[in-house]
Amino acid sequence: MSIEPTTNNPDRIISPVQKDEDGSLDTSLRPQVLKEYIGQEHIKNNLEILIEAAKQRNEAVDHVLLHGGPGLGKTTLAHIISKEMNVQIRATSGPAIERAGDLAAILTNLNEGDILFIDEIHRLHKTIEEILYPAMEDFALDMVVGKGPSARTVRLDLPRFTVIGATTRMSLLSSPLRDRFGAHYKFEFYQPEEMTDIVERSAKILDVQLSSEAHGLIAKRSRSTPRIANRLLRRVRDYAQVKSEDTVVAQDIASQALDMLNVDELGLDNTDRKLLSTIIKTFNGGPVGIQTLAASIGEDVDTLETVYEPFLMQMGFLARTPRGRVATEAAYAHLGIQPPVDTQNKLI
Ligand code: ADE
Repeated sequence: MSIEPTTNNPDRIISPVQKDEDGSLDTSLRPQVLKEYIGQEHIKNNLEILIEAAKQRNEAVDHVLLHGGPGLGKTTLAHIISKEMNVQIRATSGPAIERAGDLAAILTNLNEGDILFIDEIHRLHKTIEEILYPAMEDFALDMVVGKGPSARTVRLDLPRFTVIGATTRMSLLSSPLRDRFGAHYKFEFYQPEEMTDIVERSAKILDVQLSSEAHGLIAKRSRSTPRIANRLLRRVRDYAQVKSEDTVVAQDIASQALDMLNVDELGLDNTDRKLLSTIIKTFNGGPVGIQTLAASIGEDVDTLETVYEPFLMQMGFLARTPRGRVATEAAYAHLGIQPPVDTQNKLI
């Protein structure tokens, strides 16, 4: 199966995919230690044990697989593990490792206990995956030396290291690769209070003063995703700087800033609304197949499945059925469209 590159439009203000402008911001706002990390309590509790046990045994942490939507903090957590373990982290991504030699160069430069972070690990080439298996299991690198009949395999010992793999698409990960990770953690969307805490923490670091209502408003419009909250916070800061004389950013200023970006009161943007209104108006509310829907709104299937749908489903606006995607009654209400009703007043 070919894997489409994500073409999630980076111009979307609420795109959870990392944009260039997020780089330095993300790093400065990124919590450094587990104690500073807000939310994902289940993962944190498990990681505390994993880290403490490895430290007590003076061993590398078991290989860790992080699974969840973009912008939920997988990379941040990988850096926290390296900090907590006091080891180096080498970050790369599945598509960045093109040749066997690329991976061999990375592996042979690792020190005992180091972390190799592979983002988008589901996009690793099959041939690279096969080099990774013995590296993860036996800490060995099998290299073919020579060509033709005289070719032979030489096994190089590697230091004991940890792979932290991150993926938005668990189903695209081959099962042999999945099985080589001792710990699997699934990221959930953040709770509303956690989002408010994240906005408060980031505002403090950026030295922006916001009213508590303004914190809440940004948190509510951030699709339960910290990366989006941090981005919206920065846009609100810009707007307030230009449009307001006040030292504290009030709710109405935050609201105007986000309205200008077409982010509505529940965090949906033009594309989300287009997706829902296309199901409703073009496909009579659904069901409609994902391929057809993607073509109708000009997005690729991967982006729809990893970015848009999880949030719209969480909000109760979209349902996945065996026959395709369906807009819910709540979606009709949010868009102000009258749902079709039958004689028993049920949505048809
Ligand atoms: N910034 C981004 N994600 C965060 C998190 N989970 N906790 C604290 N700050 C964050």
